[in-house]
Amino acid sequence: MKPDIRGLLTDLDKDVLYNAGLHSIGPILEIGSYHGASTVLLAQGLIDNEHNTYTLITVDPFNKHVECGIPGLGIIVHITGRITRWIRDRNLDKYCVRHKVWTLNDRSCDIINTFPDNIFGTIFIDGDHSYPATKVDLMQCIPKLKSGGLLLVHDKNHKDVIRAVHEEVTGDIFMSYAYYPGCDMACIAYKR
Ligand SMILES: C[S@@+](CC[C@H](N)C(=O)[O-])C[C@H]1O[C@@H](n2cnc3c(N)ncnc32)[C@H](O)[C@@H]1O
Repeated sequence: MKPDIRGLLTDLDKDVLYNAGLHSIGPILEIGSYHGASTVLLAQGLIDNEHNTYTLITVDPFNKHVECGIPGLGIIVHITGRITRWIRDRNLDKYCVRHKVWTLNDRSCDIINTFPDNIFGTIFIDGDHSYPATKVDLMQCIPKLKSGGLLLVHDKNHKDVIRAVHEEVTGDIFMSYAYYPGCDMACIAYKR
């Protein structure tokens, strides 16, 4: 069942993520879980993967602090990252995937280099979409991806993300990638 979870994924993005899990050739690394839409899809694919032992490691500091005003009442509600994490965990339970997911409450740049090289079958990057952060994510993640592994980066509507992808996802390391109408991935590319 496709999850109905708040987020920015198109229908085609959702298909890409489920299939990435289904065909992953190793564990998955995800950067940016938020309410868990992509996390659930990747995990659902992994559960249906013939190598059912692979896990999904997701990295998110869950530290966003949002203030929501209630019109007419003048009440400010503080939504902290702890609530985002709670909503995310409820979604993992609702879609029965929590046992597949190992969550690291960190910023990607502080944790990615602690993993050995060439271990992930799929890496999905959807965290901080600024140019410097995306660049560092790509530089740190690419060595962690196995040969034949799949790199997915969201979202092609961010020009900073596109710029970093153009610089780091190069033809000597990856098979070429293309953009598909209806799909907001900034990169779908297999590592050589
Ligand atoms: C666009 S949302 C992710 C959406 C999610 N993939 C989905 O399908 O709904 C971005 C998330 O990245 C997280 N994030 C921001 N900076 C990050 C960082 N440096 N490392 C890891 N996650 C980060 C935010 O906390 C937020 O939850």
